[in-house]
Amino acid sequence: MGQEEWDQLLMGRAVEEAMRGRGGVEPNPMVGCVIGREGRIIGLGHHQRYGGPHAERVALGSCGESTFGASAYVTLEPCCHLNKRTPPCVPALIEAGIGEVVVGCIDPNPLVRGGGIEQLRAAGVAVRVGVMEEVCRQLIAPYVAGVVHHRPYVTMKWAQSADGKIAGPGGVRLQISNEESMRMVHRLRAKCDGILVGIGTVLSDDPMLVAKDQPDARPLIRYVLDRRLEIPLESKLVRSARESAVVVACENEAIAGSKADQLRQMGVQLLEADSIAAVLSDAHKRRITHLLVEPGPRLARAFFDGGWVDRLWVFQSQLTINDPAAPTAATIPDEYQLTGSTNLHGDELTEYLNPRSNVFFHPSASADFHWAKD
Ligand SMILES: NC(=O)c1ccc[n+]([C@@H]2O[C@H](COP(=O)([O-])OP(=O)(O)OC[C@H]3O[C@@H](n4cnc5c(N)ncnc54)[C@H](OP(=O)(O)O)[C@@H]3O)[C@@H](O)[C@H]2O)c1
Repeated sequence: MGQEEWDQLLMGRAVEEAMRGRGGVEPNPMVGCVIGREGRIIGLGHHQRYGGPHAERVALGSCGESTFGASAYVTLEPCCHLNKRTPPCVPALIEAGIGEVVVGCIDPNPLVRGGGIEQLRAAGVAVRVGVMEEVCRQLIAPYVAGVVHHRPYVTMKWAQSADGKIAGPGGVRLQISNEESMRMVHRLRAKCDGILVGIGTVLSDDPMLVAKDQPDARPLIRYVLDRRLEIPLESKLVRSARESAVVVACENEAIAGSKADQLRQMGVQLLEADSIAAVLSDAHKRRITHLLVEPGPRLARAFFDGGWVDRLWVFQSQLTINDPAAPTAATIPDEYQLTGSTNLHGDELTEYLNPRSNVFFHPSASADFHWAKD
């Protein structure tokens, strides 16, 4: 096997490893590491949990033989900064006698940005940068969204019938997806730390917006875009606001009224925000790294028009509603790239990436279904 093929194989394995950390490592990036020597993989690992050991240390610890002179393939530049929860990885690689470090992409965090590579080289370790670079950057898109663009990564998802309807006649709530799709949605919610809907959906569906039966779910902040504070006091969201955060984004006039006081007394947090940009900025301040938007057609169009979507998941069922009075799904912009699809006991889940997103680097996220199907 030639060097280039070997590089692709090992970095490809490191990317797969990294993806296993999704939903556990945030706000850190997902990172994977593979240690190889003389045509063999001798160790591998990934960053599993925020605050837990980084991929390089896990991979080094997994080697059953000496790592002296071996090559370490890391999807992201090893860290060198000290003001964080875990010790830096560069000294660990140097102490382990690693001969060469192959880096997927440079860490965009201003505290690192090339510093790890410099330290390795200064210690006499050979470093090559940029193997599968764009794929490795796509892997850390939520992290780039946070550290570079100060916003969460946005996944939008909806369910539609075979004839493109998202609800029953007049917008009445209907179970469109099958059980397997629903399970997948709850797995997806469990990997996110924010979820957002429009007031139209609250008024018609009265959703709870939680990740059901997911023991490893992250705390989920629930957002509603509701300009005039129409959210009913008896809605499930308001009634559960003390157990799990609910943020209602409204206009300036609404925030001073008596309804606002009632909502606050019930534990709802109010945010004066007149744009999606302002809501995303608030989500970033609350350390939300991955926001799941579950829109009706109006909110979906607003997110498309503003260019706020990074990734789209559409669940299409085999059910036909066949009623012109039932609302139709928003039109997916032509430029969106289909990156993968998977069959869920008859329903079809299709993933698209927005190539105009400032965290789009490579259409490689299709492999991203595996964690949700575990
Ligand atoms: N199948 C699915 O996956 C799925 C998912 C969710 C909902 N649904 C269905 O969708 C229907 C509701 O959809 P919908 O389109 O009426 O409502 P929606 O998308 O849930 O909410 C739209 C509303 O949000 C408000 N809003 C506040 N800030 C906004 C902003 N910056 N941009 C855009 N909207 C903003 C708007 O109120 P203003 O009018 O005041 O501007 C707008 O009417 C229901 O039938 C529900 O069952 C289906």
